[in-house]
Amino acid sequence: MQKIVIAIDGYSACGKSTTAKEVAKELGYRYIDSGAMYRAVTLYFLDHLVTPSNPREVMKALFAINLEFRVNAKGISELFMNGVNVEKPIRKMRVSENVSQVSTVKEVREAMVALQRKLGKEKGIVMDGRDIGTVVFPDAELKAFLTADIDVRAYRRQQELLEKDEMVDIDEIIQNLKQRDQIDSTRKESPLKKAADAQTIDTTHITVEEQVDEVIRMALSKIVRATTRPK
Ligand code: CDP
Repeated sequence: MQKIVIAIDGYSACGKSTTAKEVAKELGYRYIDSGAMYRAVTLYFLDHLVTPSNPREVMKALFAINLEFRVNAKGISELFMNGVNVEKPIRKMRVSENVSQVSTVKEVREAMVALQRKLGKEKGIVMDGRDIGTVVFPDAELKAFLTADIDVRAYRRQQELLEKDEMVDIDEIIQNLKQRDQIDSTRKESPLKKAADAQTIDTTHITVEEQVDEVIRMALSKIVRATTRPK
């Protein structure tokens, strides 16, 4: 079977990562969490007091950052920054509060997009983010755009944080999601927007299983089409 590229974009906390991870597992594809990459850069900037508006500081930091996805014993892809597993610290509110600002920086976007394209060169990947179907892989065979009501998104994010022992007030989460949606949608460099050929899935009233099934159904039809297409 021919391998394809699956791009899953959408607003903060609509279940993109959960869906992408499951779809990748079912298809035997690689899962790449592009948001984790922006979160790791943000963590580095916070820890090393890098000023996002200073291009020299930003470039120096980007040269010092090495990002690598490694698959753990359970088959889950985890992000390592300079050899250290950063999956836990990058999900903290401290990073969520700063990541959208850092993600507006041109140099940061250029570096991350270049790395994402390199990771997707062999196809057979599911990548989730904000600009995957529009900028990173405009030729992706399947593009899904996920949406959900803000209250549902905030509740789901609160549960995720609770599972990681971080208790955050629902109003604080709603505020953070709205603020990130606003910055992500209005920034100059590759803003969050639905690609013209993306298929929208509203996840407000459906279960994770249902959204995964929906994307797999779409993917299988694209895989069959790519495989049977005359060369
Ligand atoms: O999981 P959640 O929806 O909260 O966000 P994420 O996917 O971890 O992404 C965190 C942030 O990184 C987003 O709010 C964007 O500001 C930025 N991002 C981006 O600019 N471009 C991407 N392709 C992915 C994430």
